[in-house]
Amino acid sequence: MTPTFDDILRRQDLDKEEIKLLLAAEGAQQERLLRRGLEVKLQHLDNCVHLRGLIEYGNVCEKNCLYCGLRRGNDRVERYCLSDEEVLSCARLAHELGYGSVALQSGERSDPAFIDKIEYLVREIKKINGGSLGITLSLGEQTEETYRRWFEAGAHRYLLRIESSTEELYYRIHPKNGRHDFHRRLACLETLMRLGYQTGTGVMVGLPGQSLDHLADDLLFFKRMDVAMVGLGPYIPHPDTPLYRLRDLVPPAGERMDLTLKMIAVLRMMMPEINMVAATANQTIDPQGREKAIAAGANVIMPNLTPGEYRESYFIYPDKACVKDRPDQCKSCLDIRLAAIGHKILYNAWGDSPAFTKKK
Ligand code: 5AD
Ligand code: SF4
Ligand code: FES
Repeated sequence: MTPTFDDILRRQDLDKEEIKLLLAAEGAQQERLLRRGLEVKLQHLDNCVHLRGLIEYGNVCEKNCLYCGLRRGNDRVERYCLSDEEVLSCARLAHELGYGSVALQSGERSDPAFIDKIEYLVREIKKINGGSLGITLSLGEQTEETYRRWFEAGAHRYLLRIESSTEELYYRIHPKNGRHDFHRRLACLETLMRLGYQTGTGVMVGLPGQSLDHLADDLLFFKRMDVAMVGLGPYIPHPDTPLYRLRDLVPPAGERMDLTLKMIAVLRMMMPEINMVAATANQTIDPQGREKAIAAGANVIMPNLTPGEYRESYFIYPDKACVKDRPDQCKSCLDIRLAAIGHKILYNAWGDSPAFTKKK
């Protein structure tokens, strides 16, 4: 007998056809899927949301990803890099607000000055309140040596999105040259895991030419890699990038939002104990985007701590949420929004994923 939709909803080991069937759900079936994502999360984790205070360290980038506003070829952005004191005061603010962790993110750079500086900053952040802040890095592809130095300095999580796990689609959204190499990116993920980082990856949802086949393969990729964290969010066309030309092939915002939520719910069924980010990009295409992601199975939010005057320069995609809000405003805003969906923030904790802690 062929399994029904609701039979499949009770499974954890899903094959590609089953995943595609779930991702294609609409109406009442879609609602049952999203409820299942929440149910599995509450069974394996709880209703607590972990925060990572986001510090956008700089927007200088050596790469030329076809979708991203920070790409080297975009001369319409004013480039900046935070001073040491600016980074450290963001980190101290994270501690004061009770966020258990910070995430340091920037465009990709591999010059020795940058590598040394990050190592220094990680060590300094670790000195705040006796090492109580967790540190996630999201600084792109680096050598094993660099990853090791940053790990030894005290960073323990690393986010490196694969963007698409299908090589062919990867090269439709990245120029095919030595700087953008699908296999090197995979090798970086493997290195990060081997070094002992709690490693996260992710994809954009709603890319031009992306099908349910691609998205199902992405979910199977996360499972096969056995990553500890995933961040996935909708693709948002940016007018100053080459991929903007294909914007007519991008599904409308509502569909991209639904697809993102379904990806979160299915992934929660497949990997019940991982940490999953409710990406800020969700908020850009739907005012309730992040809460919806939490209610479909995500459990991490990354509120922005970057000093106000730089926020608009970290212009990855248009209409980023909270660009004009102060950190304390975001904090109370999140408390209220999460309470409204029966969730709460877990303050003063690192919030590691049980998927990772158990494996260790
Ligand atoms: N829309 C949505 N997400 C984007 N990113 C980059 N450009 C866009 C865009 N136009 C995401 C990528 C990258 C992270 C820094 O931001 O997934 O990994
Ligand atoms: Fe640079 Fe990352 Fe943007 Fe690519 S996605 S251009 S690596 S900041
Ligand atoms: Fe920033 Fe709501 S989370 S204003």
